[in-house]
Amino acid sequence: MSSQDLRAVTWTVAAEGGTPSLSLIDQTALPHTLERLDVTTVDQLIDAIVRLVVRGAPAIGAAGGYGVALAMAQGAREGWDRARLDAEVARVRAARPTAVNLMVCVDRVAPLIDAGLPAVLAEADAIVREDLEANHAMGAFGADWLLKRVSQDRPLRILTHCNTGALATAGWGTALGVIRELHSRGRLETVYADETRPLLQGARLTAWELAQEGIPHFVQADGAAAGTILRGEVDAAIVGADRIAGNGDTANKVGTVGIALACAYAGIPFVVAAPTTTVDLATATGSDIHIELRGEDEVLEWAGVRTAPAESRGHNPAFDVTPGALVTALVTERGVLEVAAGELPSVGLS
Ligand code: MRU
Repeated sequence: MSSQDLRAVTWTVAAEGGTPSLSLIDQTALPHTLERLDVTTVDQLIDAIVRLVVRGAPAIGAAGGYGVALAMAQGAREGWDRARLDAEVARVRAARPTAVNLMVCVDRVAPLIDAGLPAVLAEADAIVREDLEANHAMGAFGADWLLKRVSQDRPLRILTHCNTGALATAGWGTALGVIRELHSRGRLETVYADETRPLLQGARLTAWELAQEGIPHFVQADGAAAGTILRGEVDAAIVGADRIAGNGDTANKVGTVGIALACAYAGIPFVVAAPTTTVDLATATGSDIHIELRGEDEVLEWAGVRTAPAESRGHNPAFDVTPGALVTALVTERGVLEVAAGELPSVGLS
């Protein structure tokens, strides 16, 4: 199967008398095995979100939308009252704090609970459909913008961080969708995929998606990114986002802000590609974004083996915030905004 056709999150209708489930590509098993994990309870779903079985802001959003349906089905089996159902939906909504898509999607679907399971599922399906459409639109807008802005006689060399592909979304991808589009136009020379410590979404997932498509790429250590940029080996960096504050400050996978600083120094574009559902105008600035702090073991161990001294403590923020002033352009499904700090609300994203 081409990685373009991957569907990270799908609802599985129950056979007569059976239990419906949410089927997730188990992203912890990639790149070695492509397998799915079927979850039937809220606890299982939350565990899957926390362990990054399903991950990436839009994919977590989709899982949250279907999570409302999952809670309703479990509640019907177990005889929950409405207060219990609402509490379980609230637990899904809070499973990870940084990507706004999770909260947005749960809040979009939950008001339909009284209308019944088919209405809830129809809304969750619409979220997935709209995200897929948005990603294809972003791919085209982003590729057009880059080809105009980075006028080179040769195909482009693009750096990216984390995984923003089909696995992280309803399909195709955001930043990786732009990269796919450049490749399909014959305008991509290579991709520098940062490995993305500590959980290796770049080395495991982005590289896997690129390999599936035969897209030329290098995996590099995160610490190599600034040097690769400053040596002139990169034409532009493009990344996704977990939450974009009203002033353009952008939360994304930890390590992103260093790439933005290197791009600014080198004078090359630093581009964010994200659907408008990732823009959170209720959050004024990046310092208001809740950055998820993950377990210390993720940085103190390697493959389950302790690498740091027993006395060491780990600091493991999963995301960082890039100041809006460092974002050259924001690619959305509505077009490309050349962002200056403080200007997002005035350019029609409300
Ligand atoms: O911790 P993760 O793997 O969920 O982090 C994902 C990212 O930071 C992505 O860049 C972001 O969600 C955009 S995905 C289109």
